[in-house]
Amino acid sequence: MQPFGTTIFAEMSALAVRTGSINLGQGFPDTDGPPEMLDAAAHALRNGRNQYPPGPGVPELRAAISAHQKEYWGLDYDPDGEIVVTAGATEAIAAAILALCDAGDEVVCFEPYYDSYAASIALAGAVRRPVTLTPDESGEGYAFDATQLRAAFGPRTKLVLLNSPHNPTGKVFSREELTLIAELCQEFDAVAVTDEVYEHLVYDGLAHIPIATLPDMRERTIQISSAGKTFSCTGWKVGWACGPASLVSAVLRVKQFLTFVNAGPLQPAVAVALGLGSSYVDGVRAALESKRDRLCAGLSSAGFRVLRSSGTYFVTVDLGSGADGISYCRSLPERCGVVAVPTQVFYDNVDQGRRLIRFAFCKRDDVLDEAVRRLRLLER
Ligand SMILES: Cc1ncc(COP(=O)(O)O)c(C=O)c1O
Repeated sequence: MQPFGTTIFAEMSALAVRTGSINLGQGFPDTDGPPEMLDAAAHALRNGRNQYPPGPGVPELRAAISAHQKEYWGLDYDPDGEIVVTAGATEAIAAAILALCDAGDEVVCFEPYYDSYAASIALAGAVRRPVTLTPDESGEGYAFDATQLRAAFGPRTKLVLLNSPHNPTGKVFSREELTLIAELCQEFDAVAVTDEVYEHLVYDGLAHIPIATLPDMRERTIQISSAGKTFSCTGWKVGWACGPASLVSAVLRVKQFLTFVNAGPLQPAVAVALGLGSSYVDGVRAALESKRDRLCAGLSSAGFRVLRSSGTYFVTVDLGSGADGISYCRSLPERCGVVAVPTQVFYDNVDQGRRLIRFAFCKRDDVLDEAVRRLRLLER
């Protein structure tokens, strides 16, 4: 693991603290989630829920996840055998990769990708086969080349790691794109491992489409999400994986030796949060959509070329030809007291992302406004 060093988030968050900067680097909200969830956690802590929970997760949380999957995506998962609770989506992703890949097996993933993917693939001794998401000329979003996608599949392809809505680009994969990926999964007998932690954070009236809902995909998909983003509790690390029993039991087999179990008293609280229903989720989405608009307008007014983000907590900007995102982000806190992250660290083909940096908008409006005020003072 030596080449992996310290994550860019740790480096940039430490820089934010050291320089007293506004941290728009790491994606965590600066407000708490629903009070009902927090009260339920406090109640669980005070009322004897502090020992090891069952390996697959507490029954009320598995039941709540099952009901959620049905309500939002029309997917049926049996709480007993088709759902496992994990230490965040991160553990579910790692356990899925470790469970399904032997050394030398290949994993197709879309770059830029969330940084734990490369590390988990390396831990399994597997090989990344990146497909590049490139900003289109109009700045209207990111797209991939279907030929490059097809070429990434081969006889050693074991799985496709798909993150939609996508961090860091804010891309929401369309039905046509997902259909193409699904067809290739079937042709090459690959499993789709989907990271859907931003499933509810989709804007502009677009729809999130779990690939498991496409024909014949439920049986070859491990669908992963977590409570952190939807319920503003990223520090709780309560996630889950859903899928057919054969795949979920493989995830559980690995999970039992990674963490065994996790977050005992927080699991019943997440069950309460999932039970709050669509009005809570709709409120979170609306609030974040307006924050996206606020930050994007501010960044444009400060002279940045903003690339369209249709989901997640994030928006990327293009610094222009010749720019280097890493040195730009390292100097930004000193220059104006704002932290962003360079997205080139999420690419295998770093040149593709050299000019791009990412800002998080999951912050209070006054924080976003102050960040924009500072960025507007920058000499360009
Ligand atoms: C795409 C993506 N996947 C996974 C995670 C981590 O999820 P969790 O905290 O539930 O492990 C994040 C957090 O930023 C993310 O952006």
